[in-house]
Amino acid sequence: MSEGFKGMDVVSIRDFSREQIEHVLKLAEKMVPIAKGDERSILLEGKILGSLFFEPSTRTRLSFNAAMTRLGGRTLGFDALQGSSVSKGETLADTVRMVDSYSDVIVLRHTQEGAARLAAHFADKPIINAGDGAGQHPTQTMLDLFTIRKAKKKIEGNHVVVVGDLKYGRTVHSLSEALAMFGAELTFVAPPTLQMPKEHLRRIESMGLKPKITGDLEQAVKDADVLYVTRIQKERFPDPAEYQKVEGAYRIDLNLLKDAKDDLIIMHPLPRIGEIDPSVDSTDHAMYFEQAFNGVPVRMALLALVLGASR
Ligand code: NCD
Repeated sequence: MSEGFKGMDVVSIRDFSREQIEHVLKLAEKMVPIAKGDERSILLEGKILGSLFFEPSTRTRLSFNAAMTRLGGRTLGFDALQGSSVSKGETLADTVRMVDSYSDVIVLRHTQEGAARLAAHFADKPIINAGDGAGQHPTQTMLDLFTIRKAKKKIEGNHVVVVGDLKYGRTVHSLSEALAMFGAELTFVAPPTLQMPKEHLRRIESMGLKPKITGDLEQAVKDADVLYVTRIQKERFPDPAEYQKVEGAYRIDLNLLKDAKDDLIIMHPLPRIGEIDPSVDSTDHAMYFEQAFNGVPVRMALLALVLGASR
């Protein structure tokens, strides 16, 4: 299995088979004590991660950094364009070519859909897509799957209600395809203008799944095993007036949850901008902070695999 991973670009969740994803999740499980700092590892000693963030990030960037550091490797890169030659007008291709020669693996977040695929074309080292515009966010999906499996023991058969910005949200584009692959049941809740784009729906349907499309969150929550909440992606709206029409469309609070299943888990890739009332944080439903931690062991597993350090 590990032979299939070494040197691999991680651009889209579609690059992976179900078996490969399961392999990552299994290795991630073994990484948990190291991710927590309870055990030490020098698995990636001497390796360098090039971390190129052209868009803001807290969890993804820091958890990749933590993952690399916990395994004995190092990270270099930038998270503010002002400090890099990109601000002078350097192209993505040139930036990637340079960092390719300074590092062993590159993690890239970019505003443009397709940027990671383009970078992979110019780099010899593995490119890991940490989010490309409204495109894909495959490592987030892996940590989401890890979180669901940990809480629910399995992924298949769970009813996952996905709510928020399904049009521009890259996390839900990757996640819904993976959930279809794993045989979960899906309901998409959004205002009509932010529903799941047709091409994603078609792909999911071609995998034998018929997702429910609705605007009625209250009804959908009653029957949910997992509620996956997302932020409305303000920065991707071409027209601010359009954003104002949907701002605050859905809010998860204790009242909404009164008819929910006892073992419902609530997830969110974060950051949340008012979608989940803080009163929900202290309920057993809240899984989003654990989900954010899970980014560390999952990214450790992926890094170890693409760098050929683990089987
Ligand atoms: C998400 C992203 O950047 O796509 N954040 C993350 O990586 N955890 C979600 C978002 O920005 O809303």
